[in-house]
Amino acid sequence: MTRDAKILVADDDPQMQLAIQSCLARSGYQLTMVGDGKSATEKLESDSFDLVITDQRMPEMTGQELMSWIQRKEIATPVIMITAHGTITQAVEAMQAGAADFIAKPFSTEDLERIVERVLSPENAAFRAKGKKAAKGRPIITNDPIMIRMLEVAEAVARSDATVLIQGESGTGKELIARLIHASSPRVHQPFVAVNCAALPATLLESELFGHEKGAFTGAQNRKIGKFELAQGGTILLDEISEMELALQAKLLRVLQEREVDRVGGQSPISIDVRVLATTNRNLEETVKAGKFRADLYYRLNVIPLTLPPLRQRLSDIKLLVEHFMRQYLGDEAPALSGEVLTALQRHPWPGNVRELQNAVERAAILSRGQTPREADFLLGQANSLASQVTVEVTQSDAEPTSGAGLSIRSGTTVQEMEKALILETLRATENNRTLAAKMLGISIRTLRNKLHEYNFEGPE
Ligand SMILES: Nc1ncnc2c1ncn2[C@@H]1O[C@H](COP(=O)(O)OP(=O)(O)OP(=O)(O)O)[C@@H](O)[C@H]1O
Ligand SMILES: [Mg+2]
Repeated sequence: MTRDAKILVADDDPQMQLAIQSCLARSGYQLTMVGDGKSATEKLESDSFDLVITDQRMPEMTGQELMSWIQRKEIATPVIMITAHGTITQAVEAMQAGAADFIAKPFSTEDLERIVERVLSPENAAFRAKGKKAAKGRPIITNDPIMIRMLEVAEAVARSDATVLIQGESGTGKELIARLIHASSPRVHQPFVAVNCAALPATLLESELFGHEKGAFTGAQNRKIGKFELAQGGTILLDEISEMELALQAKLLRVLQEREVDRVGGQSPISIDVRVLATTNRNLEETVKAGKFRADLYYRLNVIPLTLPPLRQRLSDIKLLVEHFMRQYLGDEAPALSGEVLTALQRHPWPGNVRELQNAVERAAILSRGQTPREADFLLGQANSLASQVTVEVTQSDAEPTSGAGLSIRSGTTVQEMEKALILETLRATENNRTLAAKMLGISIRTLRNKLHEYNFEGPE
């Protein structure tokens, strides 16, 4: 039904009216234009529409008031709110009040067409009809007021197609939020594709994102479909966007503006319908000031900024998260924390944030063996998870070296030091029971013996 849909437009600015009219009439929509909210309600009482587009700021009746009126009257017509440039709160308020989407001024005719088309699409209508409760992924544990507000904003803007820039230190939960946004959006049944922009050099990243044709460059033996194409209809997450090189930033900007990608070595552009989310653990504004990130791309990405506070600023979350992960590892039998240990955990600076805490709890769950964990069991200040160390262990002694998947070493400690500390700590915890220690470490007795030999460890066999 989309192309001959009936649209009611309420805007007090004649120039804006004209621009919207010429853009949408060209696409074949049937338009009714009014200059204020009151006239809009009159039209809505006497006629039915498939869509209402309204300016937020109008004299007498604001767009927000018009939307409330529509809801009170139980009119099912979706509303797109036109918001002022740079006022994120307006956009968020509109979405929280139930707008189907918003569009920030100034916008291009392509932007407007795209949003109108999406709101009128059958998927979107079905999503709205179902009461927009989509399947949720992993739970997000928090009772921190700033986090809760941030989650409200994330859920509200999830329904829109707006680009969201998620900022926060490493391990604060940026990817988790990105997945939540996708899962709460009408795109939930379409792909979610994440690309780490820091993991690859620019040339490889370009074909990773946009794809390439066979023979496009030396080594391009087959055609490769890029992540943007793979995310078609769904959401792409551009992880660690601040690390992208300037030349590639220019290409990305073009993709976001034109909504089409060129495969490397390709002849004709491919149009894409992909919602963009980006994360960064640097302050992107500073990166722009330092000349390392394009300002125009920053504005494209920063439509809705979400900032995750570091864990050291959410002390009440530390307790909740420790209990949550303890239960995850040990089930409902997980022992409670002593007040003393909790205080020690709350004093720790958590440079690796929730990921570091999760790893520390994993160690404590193993080392405390069902007893109330002591501070030492958390091995605070060591960023690695037990799982990654076991992988290192297995890779080094028992199996052929593999790709080393599972390695996530970030701290200054070497793998060997970490490994040694962990093995000795486990032995201590098991009162030198080598069979049990090897089992807890997930390694063979033989490997354990070899390691202890290496450390010149003198203990009872
Ligand atoms: N509030 C939370 N509740 C439960 N689990 C969480 C929470 N925040 C983060 N986590 C968990 O912590 C880990 C790190 O989160 P995530 O990968 O989303 O962080 P990130 O900010 O993307 O990190 P990085 O900057 O290193 O990429 C994940 O295992 C995630 O599930
Ligand atoms: Mg991440």
